[in-house]
Amino acid sequence: MKKLKKISIALIVLATVVSCGDKHTRSLEYMPDMYVSVPYEPNGTEGVNGKSSNLEPVAGTIARGHVPYEYADTNQGYESAKNTLKNPLEATEKNLENGKKMYGIYCAVCHGKTGDGNGILAEREKFSGVPNYIDRELTEGNIYHVIMYGRNLMGSHASQLTTKERWQVVSYVEKLRNDLLN
Ligand code: HEC
Repeated sequence: MKKLKKISIALIVLATVVSCGDKHTRSLEYMPDMYVSVPYEPNGTEGVNGKSSNLEPVAGTIARGHVPYEYADTNQGYESAKNTLKNPLEATEKNLENGKKMYGIYCAVCHGKTGDGNGILAEREKFSGVPNYIDRELTEGNIYHVIMYGRNLMGSHASQLTTKERWQVVSYVEKLRNDLLN
């Protein structure tokens, strides 16, 4: 009986400490993070290093994973890519192999396995005007440009391929063109 009394008193005291006291100060914080969060005021001055977290990125900043492409989607951009844009990759066996794989997935339906313009869509007359690569004067820069923006009836393939894959496809298209020429 005595023991029970002691326990009851202890519980009452504990409950008082936890629940009562000054309303404006917390006597016991079970999870302090939930009372005192670490907010970043979007337009205030309390963000990271005392700066607002809503600042514009520094001029010239490039988003992670984004590779800028400086040639415009115009005839002039096309010409200048054709003359000045160079493939940063070597046409190694590995690059050509992946280029072939990507070409098979994204390009062969129209351009054909060999690049002669007789892909399955062209053969079934679903798509006309697909050129044989040997009938075009192509440079690595202009092939890349066309993958980026498309050309007339051909759509852009920029979103399907990473920068590296695009260049691998460029190498493979050049190889196909050389094979057709010889
Ligand atoms: C839906 C059909 C289609 C697909 C898919 C397609 N192309 Fe084309 N492509 C065309 C047509 C049509 C043209 C002719 C455009 C023109 O000059 O009028 C063309 C033109 C080209 C040219 C010549 C551009 C020039 O400057 O004369 C290249 C190079 C080329 N495509 C590469 C590719 C590559 C690489 C892929 C895959 C990433 C691809 N194409 C996917 C239809 C397609």
